[in-house]
Amino acid sequence: MRRAIYPGSFDPVTNGHLDIIQRGCKLFDEIIVAILINREKTPFFSVEERKEILADVLKDIEQGGCKVVVDSFEGLLVQYAADKEAHAIVRGIRAISDYEYELQMALMNRRLQPSLETVFMMPAEAYSYVSSRLVKEVFQLGGSIEGLVPPLVERKMQEKK
Ligand code: PNS
Repeated sequence: MRRAIYPGSFDPVTNGHLDIIQRGCKLFDEIIVAILINREKTPFFSVEERKEILADVLKDIEQGGCKVVVDSFEGLLVQYAADKEAHAIVRGIRAISDYEYELQMALMNRRLQPSLETVFMMPAEAYSYVSSRLVKEVFQLGGSIEGLVPPLVERKMQEKK
């Protein structure tokens, strides 16, 4: 039974994140989508809201027999992964610009927990420029985010307006 953690802020979850989860499902039996509780940042959606949204949108995507669990965590990711007896961390890499930050984190995590591997996955090209940060910016400035996030996310964002 191969278990991976897919950590992130998911504020909000984008179609790029869902694409990575589906790809990760081809490699692992279980993926724990783990939302970081970051008390220093003021998020758009609370952790509870993000959990509910993720659980809801994940019901609708094809997971090919792999189990997808939504959770949240605080503190060191490697500690959380050890608590969950996970074998790997999954992270999506869109462009070279992501690589530097991701490599830094992966190597730091490896130093902290050498037995835990980080697996980088590439999303579909169509999502290669999609980020939660840009989705929020475009939305807040009145632009369309259709097709970039699940329809539920768009509705929930409209409700917050
Ligand atoms: O979606 P994000 O915001 O890019 O995700 C970043 C995340 C959650 C993967 C990273 O901030 C993280 O792992 N935080 C937990 C604290 C930790 O373990 N820090 C050391 C990482 S090298």
